[in-house]
Amino acid sequence: MRFAEKVAVVTGAAQGIGEAYAKALAAQDAAVVVADLNVDAGEAVAKQIEADGGRAIFVRTDVSDPESANAMAQAAVQAFGGIDLLVNNAAIYGEMAFDLLVTVDWDYYRRFMSVNMDGALVVTRACYPHMQARGGGAIVNQSSTAAWLYSGFYGLAKVGINGLTQQLAHELGGMRIRVNAIAPGPTDTAATRTQAGDAAHDIVRNSLAIKRMGQPEDMVGACLYLLSDDASWVTGQILAVDGGQVFRS
Ligand code: NAI
Repeated sequence: MRFAEKVAVVTGAAQGIGEAYAKALAAQDAAVVVADLNVDAGEAVAKQIEADGGRAIFVRTDVSDPESANAMAQAAVQAFGGIDLLVNNAAIYGEMAFDLLVTVDWDYYRRFMSVNMDGALVVTRACYPHMQARGGGAIVNQSSTAAWLYSGFYGLAKVGINGLTQQLAHELGGMRIRVNAIAPGPTDTAATRTQAGDAAHDIVRNSLAIKRMGQPEDMVGACLYLLSDDASWVTGQILAVDGGQVFRS
């Protein structure tokens, strides 16, 4: 078991890719904090992990709110004794507004960026002292191939996630905390079905080298690798797990 005696916080773990990360970490013996706004779905994920023999708690968390993130980190320490690993996966995605950078409602834009870009920093700020207290740790931020494609404010937030990953790698490296990112390509989650609908099939046909959507489980190997000691000299990297979307024919 790669993560025995490790404590992992996964934000946005109530469903989709975050749920897959949380369950995979628990299956490799990490104690998992399911941190999400969605209480019913988040509690269900934590209960399922426990029913499968793992250790998990759900903590209602708004990643855009420092007070909420700090309370979540405290709850993690209280329940499991510390924090070693953090996956900043939460984002507004499935229900996001379709609009342009030049016309999107300003309050909506500010709220969106506070979750999708700043949220990863807010939760990192809450968790890193606890990782430092344990002698180090690892963080994975959830980016997207959208950072390298036209995708408006959604892509802009992911560009921010990539930059945050590289900058934080240097700020936290001296504390033996590594920071990397995963950039998934189009992945078959309920949120993508809401967001892209039938367009997803065109994306697969026209832009992927491997002619199928990603599944949440396709992201898991990369996430576990980046969190594990196998990646002990890997930091500041953005790893595309994208069926070949970014390098196109
Ligand atoms: P999803 O919408 O199913 O999951 C996002 C989770 O974040 C939800 O459980 C939601 O309740 C939670 N969340 C939203 N705002 C929050 C907040 N303020 N505080 C705490 N939790 C909050 O999305 P999915 O498809 O699982 O994607 C997960 C991540 O992967 C996101 O960062 C998304 O941008 C990224 N991604 C997804 C791709 C896809 O095709 N599904 C492709 C590339 C990146």
